Amino acid sequence: MSKARKLKLGGLLHGVGVGGDNWKHPDAVTDAGVNFGFYKKQAQAAEAGKFDFVFVGDSVHITPKSTPHHLNRFEPLTVLSALAAVTSKIGLVGTVSVSYTEPFNVARQFASLDHISGGRAGFNVVTTALEGTAGNFGRTEHLAHDVRYRLANEFLEVTKGLWDSWEDDAFIRDKQSGVFFDNEKLHSLNHKGEFFSVTGPLNIARSNQGQSVIFQAGVSEDGRNFAAKYASAVFVINDSIDKAKQYYQDVKQRVANFGRSPDELSILLGISPIIGRTEAEAEQKYQEKLSLVTIENALMELGRMFSYFDFSAYDLDSSFPDMGEIGANSAKGTIVAIKKMAKEQNMTLRQVALAFATPRNTFCGTAEQVADVMQQWFEEGAADGFMIGVEGVPTGIEDFVEHVVPILQERNLFRTEYEHDTLRGHLGIDIPVNRYTKHDVRV
Ligand SMILES: Cc1cc2nc3c(=O)[nH]c(=O)nc-3n(C[C@H](O)[C@H](O)[C@H](O)COP(=O)(O)O)c2cc1C
Repeated sequence: MSKARKLKLGGLLHGVGVGGDNWKHPDAVTDAGVNFGFYKKQAQAAEAGKFDFVFVGDSVHITPKSTPHHLNRFEPLTVLSALAAVTSKIGLVGTVSVSYTEPFNVARQFASLDHISGGRAGFNVVTTALEGTAGNFGRTEHLAHDVRYRLANEFLEVTKGLWDSWEDDAFIRDKQSGVFFDNEKLHSLNHKGEFFSVTGPLNIARSNQGQSVIFQAGVSEDGRNFAAKYASAVFVINDSIDKAKQYYQDVKQRVANFGRSPDELSILLGISPIIGRTEAEAEQKYQEKLSLVTIENALMELGRMFSYFDFSAYDLDSSFPDMGEIGANSAKGTIVAIKKMAKEQNMTLRQVALAFATPRNTFCGTAEQVADVMQQWFEEGAADGFMIGVEGVPTGIEDFVEHVVPILQERNLFRTEYEHDTLRGHLGIDIPVNRYTKHDVRV
């Protein structure tokens, strides 16, 4: 009998929260973005709840208009390496922007995290939406959206190639004979492409999960195709089950089109559950979160999606303005969705800003109710799992682990113990055989 399909769960470690006003919550830890104790507590709570992984996002450009968490936060691989030492099972996933680094560095950094953590590393590949990032890397222009994804393809081919530099039995380390490694099992990449020229080999071996797991969060055509081709997990935010199902079917079909089994890619929905002892208490928590939000900050958050567009001069109660091409080279998939929502529902600028900053939360209620919605979305083919955010409720992961996880476990929807030690093991994906190895030496 085949094993019952289980939910996958990730925990978003996001300092003072995603929104511009979350830091004002009475329970918020205001320096959370650079407070290792905070990250450690959240990661350990997620591990106690048997989560598949924790995730640390990133961007590499700020302005005074950035949200508080973005203004002051840890670099992902650094904090994940520290978390590796205070956890033992949970996956450790971090964002790196491929548009502003070199594959050799990134391959080496993730391989190091993978070794330090015993095979628990995941690489969330982003192409970077924020145009101002160019100014931090000696460039005058941010690459166009389609070029960024072309670059991302080549970047990953090189990174994966470098990760295979050493076959798994290459290191002999025989003190008697004085042979440290087998030269036949060390491989140079000799890559010359449109964006990168990389000789290799990489100066670190593969980890016990072979290669770090690839994550991605694109929404646009190019983003979806990239995920379908390379990723083992994709993050997405969808506020209705119908939209989520459409996205799910679309991306799974694309995975099949690339000759992969649809099960090789997990679609993980980003949610920020608000849990109360009663429905009324949950609603009260949601209202508390809403009361913190100012229209100025909501406009800034919306503006950030459109390359820090300044909406302050526009009339709040007129129809959402025609944005033309503004932001087209930014978070393309997201702004297409915002414009569509504004048009279809004939919304004003104020309504769009508030809806974007504080979306009505489907995952709000008692623990039973939140578990019910998760189960429905999972079983009806809207998601393979969820990434749990902490937005507006600083104890979000702890609350979720304490109250919702036991219900999911009782319903046989989620593991009660870790069955594996690696992130690939948790997600149920194979260790890729080294491209140079004729047979899998581990079998
Ligand atoms: C849950 C989630 C997490 C994301 N994390 C990051 C991140 O850490 N850094 C980043 O620059 N973009 C992040 N993004 C944005 C995506 O990488 C992507 O740019 C965006 O969804 C627009 O899609 P597109 O690039 O296909 O236009 C995230 C998106 C989602 C839904």
